Amino acid sequence: MNLQNTAILGLQWGDEGKGKIVNYMAGDFGAACRYQGGHNAGHTLIVKDRKIILHLLPSSICHQNSLSLIGKGVVISYEALFSEIEEIGEHTSGIVERLKISPACSLIQPYHQLIDLKKEKSNSQKTIGTTLRGIGPAYEDKVGRRAIRVVDTLSEGQLKPVLEETLDYYNFIIEKYFNEKPLSLIELMDQNLSFGEKIKPMLADVSLLIKKLNAEGKKVLFEGAQGALLDIDQGTYPFVTSSNCSPTGIAAGAGCGPLDVENILGVVKAYVTRVGEGPMPTEIFDDIGEHIALTGGEVGATTGRPRRCGWFDAVLMKRIIETNSIQGLCLTKIDVLDGLDEIKVCKEYDDSSGLFLGECMNLENVSPVYETLPGWDRPTKSINSFSELPSEAKTFISYIEEVCGAPIKIVSTGPDDLSTIVR
Ligand code: IMP
Repeated sequence: MNLQNTAILGLQWGDEGKGKIVNYMAGDFGAACRYQGGHNAGHTLIVKDRKIILHLLPSSICHQNSLSLIGKGVVISYEALFSEIEEIGEHTSGIVERLKISPACSLIQPYHQLIDLKKEKSNSQKTIGTTLRGIGPAYEDKVGRRAIRVVDTLSEGQLKPVLEETLDYYNFIIEKYFNEKPLSLIELMDQNLSFGEKIKPMLADVSLLIKKLNAEGKKVLFEGAQGALLDIDQGTYPFVTSSNCSPTGIAAGAGCGPLDVENILGVVKAYVTRVGEGPMPTEIFDDIGEHIALTGGEVGATTGRPRRCGWFDAVLMKRIIETNSIQGLCLTKIDVLDGLDEIKVCKEYDDSSGLFLGECMNLENVSPVYETLPGWDRPTKSINSFSELPSEAKTFISYIEEVCGAPIKIVSTGPDDLSTIVR
């Protein structure tokens, strides 16, 4: 195989099954690199029959022979990072050599989580249904040029002035606006400095490391979190996350050039799901929606919230694929549709109000127009060869390729690695 630097990212509202695909492919690559988001992500892997849910660590972490990189576009919660490292058990072996983190990453601090919670619970502000991990407020600090970065926590002299200034700002809001007790500078200093000491051996210049790996002939897998429809610029604003989870975020967040990303694969589920608020034109409200949610185990991997389920939306996918240089698709969870009499795919929108302005993703006023395809009665679960799929499942796959305008290169028929068809 002629390996290239490859990006694997979700094209819907997250939870497309990226973790399985990255873990499946990671062994062939020198490294996998997370480049945006934080511990709001939830990537589920099955490794040696054990279910592992990762939030911040790249999905390559269980591969002893490849590096796991966290680029500067990721926002890190030290507490979440170190508890996740403990949770992966036997896979922590050699972690200091295998996990390399950019010292330029912004940190999520306790005040970010507090503000996220207060905003979401407030009656006066729009509820987004965030994961309450402090992601949005941490990115606000980054663009507001007051973030505490990993590098700041390596020495008391560097940390004190920046933390003091930022905490002054937050304590004002916490006391005057939210009527809560201010946070203690001393406690935050201690926490950050002790985590700084712990992370030190894992730090590396991730940008240069990517260059070095490529110079040695090793390729990098860029692992997206969330999905393109949750992208701050391209998604269903304001019901989005606070980073660029579409391919536009890779170069900035990993710290490489755009041309270093040679191959971009989009992961799409055979239906759509969404957690949190925001419009979803193909949402299914009847018992078929419940059946899909139950069969697909559609419960948030990070928050445990039930995911809303809907039919595959080819209108949104076609747009995302066209505008993001997507070269191929991985279609996941096709087995969840096993046994349905009919399967619907949204092929166009009825936009009689004329308000769906493509770039604004104004989905409130559109209604889906469906193509109805026949379901299949023979299970696809665990099938690993295309020719063995029921003919109706092959028709479904061809239809998605046709309406989306991209080839489906991988089909996933179950959570484990063996349940994978590579075409
Ligand atoms: P935040 O990223 O916690 O700020 O949440 C913003 C929106 O993104 C909410 O609708 C969340 O439910 C959604 N979101 C964040 N991370 C994920 C994810 O990994 N999968 C699915 N939805 C997510």
